[in-house]
Amino acid sequence: MSSNSQNTDFDDFEPLIQAGHAICSSAIVEDLGDGFRFMVRSSDIASKVGDIDHRVDATLPAFVIRHDGQVHAYLNRCAHVAMELDWQPGQFFTHDKTAIICASHDAQYLPETGECISGPCPQGAMLTKLDVQEKDGQIFLCQAV
Ligand code: FES
Repeated sequence: MSSNSQNTDFDDFEPLIQAGHAICSSAIVEDLGDGFRFMVRSSDIASKVGDIDHRVDATLPAFVIRHDGQVHAYLNRCAHVAMELDWQPGQFFTHDKTAIICASHDAQYLPETGECISGPCPQGAMLTKLDVQEKDGQIFLCQAV
């Protein structure tokens, strides 16, 4: 359990979410607040991850955030080095909440698209965006096509 008592709901528990299933309730993911971490199977998002070995159905870390009212989900994998972005679980935003930031070397990404806008990631680099849909008070992971 984390020593951060204000955020225990987000620590240590990362459910494995299959495509078509709910990731979490909408209420958990507050606008400009902490993200919700979860795991996805590579087979559910195969068209989005061309750089992994598809002979193995790997589980990959991911997260969903809300920015300007809209939910956005990404693999939790920096485009600079394949490391998770959040130093503290669920904390993905810069202080001014205008960008997603990688805690390792401060690469920053647009929350809406995952496009890298500063830092050491290569020109034009992007986070891997996952398709999600908000319905009936829940956020669902969509099958990647
Ligand atoms: S690993 Fe993210 S900026 Fe280097």
